[in-house]
Amino acid sequence: MNVDNKVIAITGGARGLGLAMAELLGSKGARVALLDTHRDTLDKAVASLSERGIQAKGFVVDVSDEASVIKGFAAIKGELGPVSGCVNNAGITDDAMLVKAKEGEIEKRMSLSCWQRVIDVNLTGAFLCGREAATQMIEANHAGVIVNISSISKAGNMGQSNYAAAKAGIHALSVTWGKELARYNIRAATVAPVSCPPR
Ligand SMILES: NC(=O)c1ccc[n+]([C@@H]2O[C@H](COP(=O)([O-])OP(=O)(O)OC[C@H]3O[C@@H](n4cnc5c(N)ncnc54)[C@H](O)[C@@H]3O)[C@@H](O)[C@H]2O)c1
Repeated sequence: MNVDNKVIAITGGARGLGLAMAELLGSKGARVALLDTHRDTLDKAVASLSERGIQAKGFVVDVSDEASVIKGFAAIKGELGPVSGCVNNAGITDDAMLVKAKEGEIEKRMSLSCWQRVIDVNLTGAFLCGREAATQMIEANHAGVIVNISSISKAGNMGQSNYAAAKAGIHALSVTWGKELARYNIRAATVAPVSCPPR
C-alpha cells in the first residue's frame, strides 16, 4: 500500500512499537492518528514525530471502551479524514498461572478480572477499532488495510492464559476480516513480533 498522504490509525501509538510504526509510516508520508490512554504521553509522541516533519495527531481513546472508540474514530475522521489503515497495536499483559499449588495446596488462581482486563484491551479493542476502521473505509469507498499486532505467545505461553488467548483470537479476526472485507478492497493481516528492546 502506498501510504503517502493516507490516514493511518495506530492504537497504543504513544510509545513502544506503536510509536516506532508511526515514525516509519509517517516517514513515508502517512498522516498518523495515535490512539492512546493519556494526553501527556500522546502530546510527547506527537511532538517527537512533528520534529521529524511527520504529520501526527493524538486522540485519547480507551480501545476497550466502545463509546470511547466510536468517539475517537469520529474525531479522526473529522480532523484528518477517513482512515485508510488501522494498526491494532494497543496491548497489555497481566500474567498469572491458571492455578498455582504447593504440596497439593492451592496458592493462587488467575482471577476473572485479570483474564477480562487483557481480553478487553487486546482482543475486544482490536474488534472495536477494526470495526470503526472498516466502516470508514467502506463509507469512503476506498481501499484499506487493517493490521493486528499479535505475539508468538499466540501458540500458548506459561502464565499467559489471558494474553495467549487474546493474541490467538486476533489471528482469527484477521483471517475472518480478510474473508469478509476483501469484497470492499480491505485487506487484514497479523504481525506477531518475537520481542523488541525497550525504547
Ligand atoms: N515489545 C515486544 O517485545 C512485543 C512482543 C510481542 C508482541 N508485542 C505486542 O506489540 C504491541 C505493542 O507492544 P509494546 O511493547 O510496544 O507495548 P507498550 O506497553 O510499550 O505500549 C503499549 C501502548 O498501548 C497503550 N494502551 C494500553 N492499554 C490501552 C487501551 N486500553 N487503550 C489505548 N491504548 C492502550 C499503552 O498506553 C502504551 O502506549 C502489543 O500488542 C504487544 O502485545 C510486543
